[in-house]
Amino acid sequence: MSLNVIAKKICVKGKGILAADESTGTIAKRFKSINVENLEKNRLSFRQTLFNSSAMKDFIGGVILFDETIRQKTTLGPTIPELISRHGAVPGIKVDKGAKLLAGSEGETITEGLDGLRERLKEYYDLGARFTKWRAVYKIGEKFPSPNSIKSNAHALARYAALVQEAKMVPIVEPEVLMDGSHNIDKCFTVTTDVLNECYNELVNHQVDLKGTILKPNMIVPGSDCKDQSSTEEIAKKTLDCLKKNVPSEVPGIAFLSGGQTEIESSKNLNEINKINDSNFLITFSYGRGLQASALKEFGKNQNNLENIQKAFNHRAKMNSLSSKGEWSEDLESRKESAA
Ligand code: 13P
Repeated sequence: MSLNVIAKKICVKGKGILAADESTGTIAKRFKSINVENLEKNRLSFRQTLFNSSAMKDFIGGVILFDETIRQKTTLGPTIPELISRHGAVPGIKVDKGAKLLAGSEGETITEGLDGLRERLKEYYDLGARFTKWRAVYKIGEKFPSPNSIKSNAHALARYAALVQEAKMVPIVEPEVLMDGSHNIDKCFTVTTDVLNECYNELVNHQVDLKGTILKPNMIVPGSDCKDQSSTEEIAKKTLDCLKKNVPSEVPGIAFLSGGQTEIESSKNLNEINKINDSNFLITFSYGRGLQASALKEFGKNQNNLENIQKAFNHRAKMNSLSSKGEWSEDLESRKESAA
């Protein structure tokens, strides 16, 4: 399968990506919030319950896994990547080693993980992965993001993407401009513009075939502490405008991160973007918290009630599928029985 065909299988109309690649440290925080011990068996139990839900077949094109998860065998028989593939979704893997402090900057980060990546990619391919993820993180502040952080993170993303394509997998390029802070929506627009431009300059410099990539960006939103919050319409308009101006048209799929928006906000905003989408981009979701928050709560109430956990996940996956087609409405949120 060509990289473009794989990218289009993951980002197909009505489907999106489940980002279940929380590192052991991040899932520890999620489990703490529901009073569940962060044990390997609990992580496996939660994740295999999601991957075995009915929503997988209709609404999920790909699942991003963490290193531990891609190696796990489910208690249902198949391995995790086999379980995902059985539902027609593509298994993927987070390959970066996290955002570390950037030398010469006061608190910005550079994402690490390039050393030994070629060898790790071979192993992940053999384990069943057909796409990968690398997340660069940018803070907005008085002096942030610095030109150095924009340049160095774009350079690392491009080196990563070139290696991934060499290994015959599709790289998800994720430059995340964080929502933290009191900046307004226009500041988010300008910073995201600079970040995307530098990323595509570097991707082109590194001979990355853009037709075999997926972009995972932030939406254009005001900072979470900004007094001047924006309407869904404004968020959608500015987000689409930013993508149309800064993302080359060859990119086959754009799948947003939820980035701290609530489940409903992330569905509502994605829906509005698709309602006005007059571009050729396939625009969908690649949500972690935006898909899993309700299911996680159910898991915290009773880890053995698989039906309730799956019901919550099925509902969110269905709502986001509708949003990816611009067919979501607030009214459908209350009709949980309509879940797949
Ligand atoms: P959120 O949707 O929770 O932001 O997670 C997406 C993700 O994969 C971040 O890298």
